[in-house]
Amino acid sequence: MAIGNLDLTSLDSSYMTSEQKSLLNVSNISQKEIEQLLIMRGQVQEFQMMMMKYDCALSEVRTKLEVLNKELSLKNNRNPFESIKSRIKTPVSIYEKLKRKGIPFSLENIRDNLSDIAGCRAICSFVDDIYMLSDCLKKQDDVTILVEKDYISTPKDSGYRSLHLIVEIPIFLTDTKEYMKVEVQFRTIAMDFWASLEHKMKYKKDIENAELITEDLKFSADLINQLDRRMQQIRERIDAGDGKPYAMTPTKEERRASSETLEIIRREIQAEHRAMLEDDD
Ligand code: GTP
Ligand code: MG
Repeated sequence: MAIGNLDLTSLDSSYMTSEQKSLLNVSNISQKEIEQLLIMRGQVQEFQMMMMKYDCALSEVRTKLEVLNKELSLKNNRNPFESIKSRIKTPVSIYEKLKRKGIPFSLENIRDNLSDIAGCRAICSFVDDIYMLSDCLKKQDDVTILVEKDYISTPKDSGYRSLHLIVEIPIFLTDTKEYMKVEVQFRTIAMDFWASLEHKMKYKKDIENAELITEDLKFSADLINQLDRRMQQIRERIDAGDGKPYAMTPTKEERRASSETLEIIRREIQAEHRAMLEDDD
């Protein structure tokens, strides 16, 4: 049954079949059930069109970053980013995210309330590459920055660090031009490593001493931050290329401290890895 209004919950419930009503409230919805809901609302095609547009916007942003990467790697002889990942949010996680926010599932609500349907993550080697790339993206005249969250200068309480941009870019269809939102995350390899492990561990249930783990994760985030800074300094010295003493050249004591730091990181990683393997079900 095709229903004009996208938001079924705003309709008089007597217009809904009991199946429609129950679908609006399930907690563990499957892809199949979302398809059913869209079929019942007559919105399958509209939903597909919307996802296709997000996908096109994602390709546009990805291409923009790849173009910058190509140009900068020719100019500077190294790639500003190591890798780039992109993904479109699945219908199930779209549904669940709206539900977590207490917003009814409708195409309009997806467009108005979610800005990470299309997401792109550039993994850089150095922190300054992150700002250089994001500055280049910001300068492009078809890119509008809607939100910028600098979790590098101001990390989250969890210890999470990355630079997030919500950008809006136009996509050109046969006879329309539409503005779509894309979330772009910039991270160093070290930040990505930390975030991926933390993300996996966060979803592990029944963790004993969860507070201690949170503290340890924060401590590890600090070590990762120090490591990023040190790598950046090393690169600057290499770029200078003349072997001159550098203001940031570590003293013997600092060198010892940083190799101890690396040893701590190595031990932490091994321990986390062992714990994850033991926990794997
Ligand atoms: P979401 O609703 O989760 O998308 O978050 P938000 O709207 O508050 O935006 P925010 O910029 O804080 O986070 C967006 C995304 O960044 C998340 O979906 C994660 O991919 C990542 N992120 C944010 N905080 C953390 C964190 O503490 N740990 C990890 N591993 N990832 C995080
Ligand atoms: Mg998100």
